[in-house]
Amino acid sequence: MDKVWTILDLLKWAAEDFKKRGIETARLDAEVLLAEALGLKRMDLYLRFEQSPAAEGLDRFRELVRRRRGREPVAHILGRREFHSLELCCPAGRFIPRPETEVLVDEAVARLKTLPAGRVPTVLDLCAGAGAVGLAVAKSAPTARVVLVDVDPTAGEVVDENIRRLGLADRADFRAGDLFSPVAGATFDAIVANPPYIPSAEIGGLMPEVSVHEPRLALDGGPDGLDVVRRLLGEAAQFLAPGGWLLFEVGEGQAESAAALPAPGLTHEANRADIRGCLRVVIFRRA
Ligand SMILES: C[S@@+](CC[C@H](N)C(=O)[O-])C[C@H]1O[C@@H](n2cnc3c(N)ncnc32)[C@H](O)[C@@H]1O
Repeated sequence: MDKVWTILDLLKWAAEDFKKRGIETARLDAEVLLAEALGLKRMDLYLRFEQSPAAEGLDRFRELVRRRRGREPVAHILGRREFHSLELCCPAGRFIPRPETEVLVDEAVARLKTLPAGRVPTVLDLCAGAGAVGLAVAKSAPTARVVLVDVDPTAGEVVDENIRRLGLADRADFRAGDLFSPVAGATFDAIVANPPYIPSAEIGGLMPEVSVHEPRLALDGGPDGLDVVRRLLGEAAQFLAPGGWLLFEVGEGQAESAAALPAPGLTHEANRADIRGCLRVVIFRRA
């Protein structure tokens, strides 16, 4: 006779299986995927450990486990990711917003709040991906107008879907193109960017969730990781209003080198740490 699987059995089985395959967040992933398959909240599983799900739920769970065994990230399997308390759509094959990027949003919003009362802040999110940074800024600075740019034209579908879900259609606008090219002639109060910054040679050594499932265009920052950062610093002043800020994310150990790069028309203001204490955001200001 076939074994009757309870929720607890399923969690133990999947967590053990993921652990054997080197997945660090094995138990958490098992819980998130089982909750998804059964249409429950994760915490509800704890109240139902002894229950046995119906066959359709089991089939859905098996399929989600199969994808996770292939080291597909949970965010891609679910098609969504939480960032700065917003639920963003994040389909397979896209860059997944990270919690360490939230400090970039907070630093930008804190500065926009110092603008004169009544002024509508203007923000440019370069390297927008799914739109995480720019849309979170728009949510936290409720009158700001945000232009989001990505060189990958297919990013537009995801950004537009996130704009729609977050009700930001009147204040946020996606444009496809290389860095500043889609905003020629415009100026902004703040430019925010989470550019690709991983040194090219390090990408192959990253965990497969990143190296296989996220786009190389979102990761590869050239030989020392700072190719796009150099371009940002070289051009940003022309696109900033007087007193405007450029805030961008860097990788671990890159903040001081990035802060020392040539930045015509800009002055270095600060480096800020992320939730893990790593210097993550570099901030420049136009005089
Ligand atoms: C690290 S991801 C960041 C995505 C998003 N801002 C976030 O934090 O979740 C970098 C993004 O930069 C885009 N990108 C790479 N080179 C670019 C360029 N020259 N101009 C505009 N976007 C670029 C990639 O397509 C990718 O979406």
